[in-house]
Parts: sequence; C-alpha cells; structure tokens
Amino acid sequence: MILELLEHCLTPCTWTARSMGFLTSTIQVRARYQRCRAAWQPHLDRTRAAILAAARLATGRRKALLFGAGLLHDIPLRELAASFEEVVLADIVHSLPSRLAALRFPNVRLLTLDVTGIMKEMPRLRDSPAAPLPASSPQVYLDDGRLDFSVSVNLLSQLGWVPGRFLRGGRPEADLAAFQKGLILAHLEYLRQLPGHTALITDVRWRAQPHAPGEAAREWEVLQGVRLPEPEWAWDWDIAPAPERERGVDYAARVHGYADWKGAGIAGGWEGKPAGKN
Ligand SMILES: C[S@@+](CC[C@H](N)C(=O)[O-])C[C@H]1O[C@@H](n2cnc3c(N)ncnc32)[C@H](O)[C@@H]1O
Repeated sequence: MILELLEHCLTPCTWTARSMGFLTSTIQVRARYQRCRAAWQPHLDRTRAAILAAARLATGRRKALLFGAGLLHDIPLRELAASFEEVVLADIVHSLPSRLAALRFPNVRLLTLDVTGIMKEMPRLRDSPAAPLPASSPQVYLDDGRLDFSVSVNLLSQLGWVPGRFLRGGRPEADLAAFQKGLILAHLEYLRQLPGHTALITDVRWRAQPHAPGEAAREWEVLQGVRLPEPEWAWDWDIAPAPERERGVDYAARVHGYADWKGAGIAGGWEGKPAGKN
C-alpha cells in the first residue's frame, strides 16, 4: 500500500492522466497481474506471439510503434528491439518498472502519448457539460516515412471506456455513447491511415460466469457497438477469476487479433469503413 502510494507520487505523468485515473489504473493493473499471473499467462503469450507474427509481415525494419505498451506484460520487447532499428513504446502513462525495462535497450524509446489526442480536454468538458464533445482525429506519425510497423495492443476498449466513466453524469447518455464510439472508430481509422504495416489486438466482449449451478453467464460487448471483421486469431483472457473481481464469478475477456489491420479492415467492412473502400 505504501509502495503503491510512493509510486503514485513518483511516476512522471501528465495532469490529465493523473486526474482521469490512468495512473491509478496502471498501478492497480500491475497488482492484479501479480495476483492473476498464472491465469493471464496464456493471453500474454498469445498477444506476444501475435505481435511477432504481425511484425514479420512488415516489409521494413526501421521503426516499430506500439500503442498501449503500458506495463509491457504482453510486449515481446527483446525480440522487437533485436529486429527493428527503433522501437517506440507509446502510452498515456509509463510506470516506473516500464521505464527501467526500456532503459535496457538503447534503441527503445518511451513516448507519452494520448492516442485520441483529446484527453487533455476532458477536465474542461466535465466542468462544462453543455460544451460539445470533440471528434478525435489523431495525426501523430501519419507523415513518418520511417514507420514500418505499428500495433495497437489491448487498448481499444479503454479508449471509450475511460473518458465515458470520467464524463458520466453530466450529459445525455446517448451523446456520451456516440462520443465513446467515435473514439474507437477514430483509432481504427488511424491504424488504417498510418504508414507501414499495422496490426490490432483488442478485447471485444466480456463474460461473467457464476460458479453457482443454475446461474446463467452474462456477456456484454466492450467496443460501444463497433463491430469488427472476422479476426485472424481469437482467444479468451481469464482476466479476473473469482474472487478477483467478485466472489464466485469468473470474468473473461474475448480477444481478437488482426495481423494485418489494413487488409482485415477493408475486406471485412468494419463499421465506419465500408467493404471495398480505400
Ligand atoms: C489493458 S492495457 C494494455 C496492456 C499493457 N500492454 C500491459 O502490459 O499491461 C491498456 C493500456 O492502454 C493505455 N491507454 C488507455 N487509454 C490511452 C490513451 N488514450 N492513449 C494512450 N494509451 C492509453 C493504458 O494506460 C494502458 O497501459
């Protein structure tokens, strides 16, 4: 507890990330990882393998960019650092252990980045519920000719969920839902626009499975109604086995992996980009 408090004080972090709860959540996720390590391991292995398989599809080996690198649990950092000239780990918060881990590789760089580009406006928007909610249109790296590979790692569902939680209460639910969905669609489109090869790994659905006989499982989707195309890979992430989140209930996330998001997105016709359109 004292260590967590210290980490909270010492971690370099923007005011926005601190006030919106990103830093607290990073510290909590690390603690959860330590408790649920064995249950998470298959998901972490699948994610690492998916990132490496996707990276092999990139035609160049100059710069790799990872969105949502966070605590690095699911990032094959050593392998990426060995195969790309430069690896950029992007996240809105970098924990102290991630900062230390990155220091071991001279070609790995941390980038503190809000991939939506609009989180800094959230505190003002919460205080002004009549102000219109902005549209996200990320531009960073769009003109980087050295970028050969980008992957979004278990981040997409958070893009809507965290600001939704922050703004909830002050605005009509429908406006908030449309805003959250817009953030997710903007990230998918951004991945499509980035130069180089792009890949996507994301949870799409959660399931709560009660242990009690006769109690039905509950399932809900976590992408604000955005429908993704058929994935290349899919697996379950036992994210909170009982009693982590609730006594007698196991929580699992369904994860989809797309080794080639530009190809999958266009062929599958994900919402926001009809099939066949470039
Ligand atoms: C579920 S974690 C991904 C797993 C992470 N790679 C790990 O090892 O734990 C989601 C990550 O997305 C980051 N994130 C959430 N919203 C973000 C945003 N708007 N911009 C950049 N990163 C964001 C969080 O800080 C967190 O590190």
